[in-house]
Amino acid sequence: MEAQAEFQRIQELLPAWLETSRLTTPEGAVATYIPELAKIPADALGIHLMNGQGEFSSAGDCGFPFTMQSVSKVFTLILALMDRGEGEVFAKVGKEPTGDDFDSMLKLELVEPGIPFNPLINAGAITVSSLISGRSPVEQSARILTFFRELANNESLDYDENVFESELDSGHLNRSLGYFLKHNGVLEGSVEEVLHVYFRHCSIRATCADLARMGLVLAYDGTDPITGRNLIPRRFVQIAKTFMTTCGMYNASGEFAISVGLPAKSGVSGGILALVPGRYGIGIIGPALNKKGNSVAGVHLLQRMSREFDWSLF
Ligand code: DON
Repeated sequence: MEAQAEFQRIQELLPAWLETSRLTTPEGAVATYIPELAKIPADALGIHLMNGQGEFSSAGDCGFPFTMQSVSKVFTLILALMDRGEGEVFAKVGKEPTGDDFDSMLKLELVEPGIPFNPLINAGAITVSSLISGRSPVEQSARILTFFRELANNESLDYDENVFESELDSGHLNRSLGYFLKHNGVLEGSVEEVLHVYFRHCSIRATCADLARMGLVLAYDGTDPITGRNLIPRRFVQIAKTFMTTCGMYNASGEFAISVGLPAKSGVSGGILALVPGRYGIGIIGPALNKKGNSVAGVHLLQRMSREFDWSLF
């Protein structure tokens, strides 16, 4: 379908599609292992889609901010690649899906040389946090926040301090992963400092509009099509989009590739960032998660849209 006609059709149909997808929220549950996240309403669902001209279409509960959680991992990976280059990053973290849960430590012990399988599982993202340039965790975190603000074109992007504190208090499994990685020689320096950087970027608060704008930069190979600013080298966008496709929806990435066929990344607060290359950035929030940790209604809605507009890349 021609681009403008497609966009008009999205605007017409999105509100009704969103309400249909909202009916699936009882099939999922809000994550409670980070106690602060349990406060998000389970039946919320919102979407914001933006095209390269800056036109957008939004529906549902798209105004409220939520923490990016694992969605942030795509962009810390990109920043680490920009800081260190491919060689240094991929000496510490692999390029393969795991088939395990996002917070699993199984393969760190079972598979030599004990480096995380990919940068989007928790162990991989903790490792990536350690590779961000900066003289202290505070400076590393500040660089991450500045980068995210540029990508979202939103200077007011900031942390949710309550979620940050909640992760710091409850993140025992991540702490175990950190110490295991240290034992395996993957992390250098203080594990607690690395975890600080990791929890900090997971707790950056954004709206669906922010995710859509960040996704748009990826959809346009690293250039924000609205400002014309080149923010990411194309090669690193290519790497990020590949990981989103193979590992972005965790242990449901294969199923998602078959049913939706777009690069996407989910987070445990219910966010999904997806993109249609050369066309749209998409931000979704739907806190009720399926067993694999992805937003039930968010995936349902993306499936509907991808089928209707034949967006699958495959
Ligand atoms: O470390 C954690 O467990 C969270 N801060 C992020 C995990 C996450 O978003 C996984 N998502 N599906």
